[in-house]
Amino acid sequence: MMMVQPTSDQLLMLEELVRENFEEDCTGHDFYHTQRVVTLVKKLAQEESADAVICELSAWLHDVPDHKLVASAEIGWERVRAILFKIGLSDYLNVIKPIINEVSYKGASVATPCTSIESSVVQDADRLDAIGAIGIARAFAYGGSKGRKLYDPSVLVELHADFEGYKNSTAPTINHFYEKLLLLKDRLNTPSAKAIAIRRHLFMEQFLEQFHEEIKGDM
Ligand code: ADP
Ligand code: NI
Repeated sequence: MMMVQPTSDQLLMLEELVRENFEEDCTGHDFYHTQRVVTLVKKLAQEESADAVICELSAWLHDVPDHKLVASAEIGWERVRAILFKIGLSDYLNVIKPIINEVSYKGASVATPCTSIESSVVQDADRLDAIGAIGIARAFAYGGSKGRKLYDPSVLVELHADFEGYKNSTAPTINHFYEKLLLLKDRLNTPSAKAIAIRRHLFMEQFLEQFHEEIKGDM
């Protein structure tokens, strides 16, 4: 199907509606997370020859129906539908839905395959924002917002075999590094994202090394 290209006004309206949607967020999924994902997506789409418009629209809306942020997927998708309708881009719903549905991490031992280059790009951009300095900050913000401890040596790391187990985990935030964040670099799809991940990954490893040394009182 030939899609009408969004105008710059429509994209600006989209940005404002997404800003409103995440106004109250303090779980590390605030507007600026989505905006960073959009910035990364534009870069990756160009380098990977993906459809830039489809990647950008998916990136703007990717966290609106996220299971961690809305009561149900239905409510989330209703919001996505309403936003697209408001800005006159309803035709894109069926194009971006499968892409957004493929974004999320579901546990260390759960495969999250991408069925298009656009989906690969959006998933990679979202995962890059979960690692590095920003990733560390987001993880502790998320943990705090859900009442999780920073660290608790009595709770062992768990490599979740299914989405239910991963979703329902109440482990301390430091465990999340071993259950997800350190695994992301090898689960990226595109060479462009893998290149960006190298420094971010190294920074997390250094952070964790020092974290454990400080806990022992060694430095
Ligand atoms: P995904 O859909 O892959 O989870 P998001 O865009 O929703 O990606 O980002 C997930 C963010 O939430 C990451 O920054 C991640 O560190 C944080 N997060 C999710 N679950 C946890 C958790 N159990 N503990 C700490 N942070 C978490
Ligand atoms: Ni996200």
